[in-house]
Amino acid sequence: MPASTAQSAPHRHDEASDLLQARYRSSDPSVTEPWNPILATLLAHRSVRAYRSTPLPEGALEQIIAAAQSAPTWANLQAWSVVVIEDPARKAKLAQWFGGQKHVEQSPVFLVWIADLARLDALATERNVTLGAIPYLDALLIALGDAALAAQNAVVAAESLGLGTVYIGSVRNRFEDVSAELKLPPLAVPVFGLCLGFPDSTSTAAIKPRLEQEAIVHREYYSVENQKAPILRYDERLRDFQREQGLPTIGWIEQALNRLSTPASLNGREHLFDAIKARGLVQR
Ligand SMILES: Cc1cc2nc3c(=O)[nH]c(=O)nc-3n(C[C@H](O)[C@H](O)[C@H](O)COP(=O)(O)O)c2cc1C
Repeated sequence: MPASTAQSAPHRHDEASDLLQARYRSSDPSVTEPWNPILATLLAHRSVRAYRSTPLPEGALEQIIAAAQSAPTWANLQAWSVVVIEDPARKAKLAQWFGGQKHVEQSPVFLVWIADLARLDALATERNVTLGAIPYLDALLIALGDAALAAQNAVVAAESLGLGTVYIGSVRNRFEDVSAELKLPPLAVPVFGLCLGFPDSTSTAAIKPRLEQEAIVHREYYSVENQKAPILRYDERLRDFQREQGLPTIGWIEQALNRLSTPASLNGREHLFDAIKARGLVQR
């Protein structure tokens, strides 16, 4: 029996409508079909920032990595790697580097996703071949894309197993330190980290609402104008969410604009261009 028929129709309708309501806090979209357990897992996503120390179940990491490797990859280059960090002292050091994000230390497994052109370059060197495309921006975009697609498959796989995750972009705040700590060769660069573990039951992680589809989806042509009204509606909904979560109620617009207001708001990542260049990528 296909998984999608495993629930009775009213139950499926309730689940779909509850999750869509949590995701948008509006009646749009009003559809609840088609629906299946994979959509339920995807729509139930929330980042988890409090973990139990319980180890991952036997085989879980391997299955999660198999899911990651099942993601599409440009020309099957598989231009990514992942470094698994379980040593408590190393996780503590990373947590401190990343602005004291305690979940990095707490989660039993911390993954660092790598855009990896070093593997192919090593193969070329062994064969006395040069890879003339590697210094171009697009080669980095290929590897970043591969790493991101793989990581997100891992997130969905982990969540399907009842595990929680949160990406850690702060890995790039300490780009050089992380690269040295993981012994990354040139042409292999850290993209982001990912905490992995069972959510602590005291975790208050809730589904964070997103922009209405009207603000994101463009029919035939892109329109700035059509986004304005739905964005204002979303700003109010995010304030409601922030209030419920006991967070400062500043809304989405101000929060998002603040995050990009000055180069310094990149928290060290404003130097990334030079740092990546120094590792042999993006020369042109
Ligand atoms: C590339 C990337 C980097 C992120 N970095 C961090 C981080 O360093 N710390 C953190 O707590 N959350 C981080 N997040 C999580 C986002 O804040 C979160 O996904 C967003 O607020 C939406 O919330 P949700 O995932 O619960 O739906 C990151 C997310 C992404 C995609």
